[in-house]
Amino acid sequence: MRNQTERQSWHLVLVPCPFQGHLNPMLQLATILHSKGFSITIAHTIYNSPSPQNHPDFTFLPIPEGDISSSPDIDIIDLLLGINVNCKLSFQQSLANHKQILKQQDVEEGIACVISDELMYFAEAVADNLRLPSIILRTSSTATFLARSALLQLKEQGLIPFHDSCSHEMVPKLHLLRFKDLPLSIFADFERYAQLIVYCYHNRTSLAVIWNTLDCLEQLCLMQVQQQCQVPIFPIGPIHKISPPTSTSLLEEDRSCIDWLDKQSHNSVIYVSLGSVAFLSEKEVAEMAWGLANSEQPFLWVVRPGSIHGSNWIELLPKGFRDGVGERGCIVKWAPQKEVLGHEAVGGFWSHCGWNSTLESICEGVPMICRPCFGDQRVNSRYLCHEWRVGLELERLERGEIERAIRKLILDDEGKEMRVRAKDLKERVEVSTGKGGSSHNYLNELVDLIKSF
Ligand code: UDX
Repeated sequence: MRNQTERQSWHLVLVPCPFQGHLNPMLQLATILHSKGFSITIAHTIYNSPSPQNHPDFTFLPIPEGDISSSPDIDIIDLLLGINVNCKLSFQQSLANHKQILKQQDVEEGIACVISDELMYFAEAVADNLRLPSIILRTSSTATFLARSALLQLKEQGLIPFHDSCSHEMVPKLHLLRFKDLPLSIFADFERYAQLIVYCYHNRTSLAVIWNTLDCLEQLCLMQVQQQCQVPIFPIGPIHKISPPTSTSLLEEDRSCIDWLDKQSHNSVIYVSLGSVAFLSEKEVAEMAWGLANSEQPFLWVVRPGSIHGSNWIELLPKGFRDGVGERGCIVKWAPQKEVLGHEAVGGFWSHCGWNSTLESICEGVPMICRPCFGDQRVNSRYLCHEWRVGLELERLERGEIERAIRKLILDDEGKEMRVRAKDLKERVEVSTGKGGSSHNYLNELVDLIKSF
C-alpha cells in the first residue's frame, strides 16, 4: 500500500456483465467514482456493449468474447460460463496493452484497481495474474446471496431436485423464504447453474466487495454476510440514487410516455414492466392485456421488442384490446423507468421484481404488484410483500386476479396503506444515502480504501 499523498491520479478498470440489470449499476458506480476524481476505463464484451457516447469521460476497452454470443440457441448460463472462458486471454492482453498505453501517456501510477461484476470472475483472475488489486461488485440483494448459498447446501444434502419446487414450506435456517421463493434459474439445468454460483461465491481473491444494497433494507442479511465474508463489504446502495444522472440503457428510451403521464391524474397509473430478460407466451400476454383493460385504470406498459414468444413486438396482443382501452393505455418499447417511477401520476408498479426495479420503486415510494419470473426476482418479491410490506403478490397470471390486484393497489385502503409504508421506506433510504447516512459513509470508506492501494 502506498502513501496517498504520493499519488497524483487513480485509474480504475471496471468490468460489467453484459446484461442491462448488471450494466446499469456498474456504469452508475463508474460515474460515482469518476465524480470522486478517479479516471475510468470500462472493459466490456462486444455483446451488449455500452454506448461510449453516453460517457464521454470514460475510456472503453472492448474484450472480444468470440462467436459464443452469436450462437442462436445458447442460454444465459452457458453464455456467462463461455464469456468467462473466452474473455480471459483477450482481457489479459488488452489490460497489459492498456497498462502500456497509460504509461506512454505519462499516467505514472497505472491501474489502481480492477472492479468487476461478480459474474465476470475471469477479470479477477486476470487482475491476480497482473498483480493488480481487485474488488467485486455484487448487483443483487444479500438475501439472494444467502439463498443461493442455501441452494448449494441443499444440493450437497441431496435434496435437489425438490419434490415440490412450488412448496410453501419454509426453507430451514433461511429468514422468510419458502421453497418456492428460492432463486432457481429457468435457463439451465441445476448442475450448470450451481457451477456458476460456485465460481461466483467461492475462492474469490478480491480485496473487498461492493454491494448494491443498504443497511436499512437488509440489516439482518448484511450482518450474516459480513460474518461469513473474509474481506470488507461496502453496501453503498441504491447505487443509482447516489450516482449523478447518466444514461445506461441499451435500448432507446421512448420519452413520449412522459407526455402521456403528464395528462393522467395523481397516483392513478399502473406502470407495467418485466425488465430486460423475461419472456411471455401469447396466452400470458392475453391475460395481462385483459386484466389491465378490465381494471379500468390507466396503464403504461413496456413491451420489450421480442419479449412475446413468436412476435416482434405487440402483433400478438388480443384483437380489440387496443381499441377498447384507447387513450387509457400507453404501450412503449422501453421507458425512462426511473423518471416514470418518479412521476406523480404513477400509483403502482407491476414488476417482475428484478433487483434494480425493486430498488428504483422503493426509492420513489411506489408500491408494487409482484410477479417474479425467475431467479432472484422470487426472493425480492418475498421481501417486498412480507418484509417491507410494500408489495402485493400476484400468484397467478390470470385476468380476474390481475384486475383485482390493480384495483386493490390503486383504489382500495389496503393499497393506500401500502403507499404510506412505501413513502416511509423511501424516506429511510434517503437518510441512508444522505450525508452521514450508512451508504454515504461506506462510499467514503470505499474511496479511501481504493486510494490506499
Ligand atoms: C436481471 C435479472 O432479471 C434481475 O432479476 C437481476 O436482479 C438483475 O439482472 P432485469 O430483468 O433486467 O435484470 O431487471 P432489473 O434488475 O429490474 O433491471 C432492469 C433495468 O432496466 C432497471 O434499471 C430499469 O430501470 C431499466 N429499465 C427497464 C428501463 O430503463 N426501461 C424500461 O422500460 C425497463
